Amino acid sequence: MIFLFLGDIVGKPGREILKKELSNLIKKEQADFVIVNGENAAGGYGITRKICDELFDLGIDVITSGNHIWDQKETADFIGSEKRLLRPLNFIEGTPGRGAEVYEKKGKKIAVINLMGNIYMKPTDNVFNSISLKLQNLKLKKDVDFILVDMHAEITSEKMAMGNFLDGQVTLVVGTHTHVPTADAKILPKGTAYQTDIGMCGDYDSVIGMNKDQAINKFLKVPMTERLEPGKGPGTIAGIKLIADDETGLAKEIRLVTVGHHFKGH
Ligand SMILES: [Fe+2]
Repeated sequence: MIFLFLGDIVGKPGREILKKELSNLIKKEQADFVIVNGENAAGGYGITRKICDELFDLGIDVITSGNHIWDQKETADFIGSEKRLLRPLNFIEGTPGRGAEVYEKKGKKIAVINLMGNIYMKPTDNVFNSISLKLQNLKLKKDVDFILVDMHAEITSEKMAMGNFLDGQVTLVVGTHTHVPTADAKILPKGTAYQTDIGMCGDYDSVIGMNKDQAINKFLKVPMTERLEPGKGPGTIAGIKLIADDETGLAKEIRLVTVGHHFKGH
């Protein structure tokens, strides 16, 4: 089974490049199942029903998210009935929506789990405890054919710890949220594919997708009345392609995938 897992969509540049290039990418990479983190898709802040539908129409199977999931008021109203949009699993009990779901495609059962780190993020349940509890009743090859995990987190060590913590129990652990693709795509010793951050789908002529002048001013502590806006230039897609073994549910191959003009050397 071949998966594409693409990084956080940041505003219009991210949505536009997916509209333009995703179907070609799916064909070129022969992808069977496509996941994207969409939590910054609506002008950098959350996601709307309309944007979800546009993304599903492009051939995206599942949208994951993170700390920005509630930035658009309407999201809490529709997330309960939209099982293709996930919010982090380790949000407190009673939070609308779901943090994990099992999907069926091409005769395979595919679980997608969305986690959020605890370090420098809003308080949530301990992410390591939450995933341990979840995996007690969701076992690779016993309950599902593949398990793919989005670890939406700020710091590299927490993401890397999670990758190693889950090694052998899941097909893939990818990091999102920091929007800069890391050069460490690899298969861990027990067969789980891993990359610390898969980057973003957005304008890289920016500061992690957002207007660079505004972002610099923020660091200079220049008083700002407006909130940060996404960059307006053309977007680039970043993510990973994963080839997973249908028999074991573990990884055979993982590599960084980019489409667009920002990574000319890649
Ligand atoms: Fe985030």
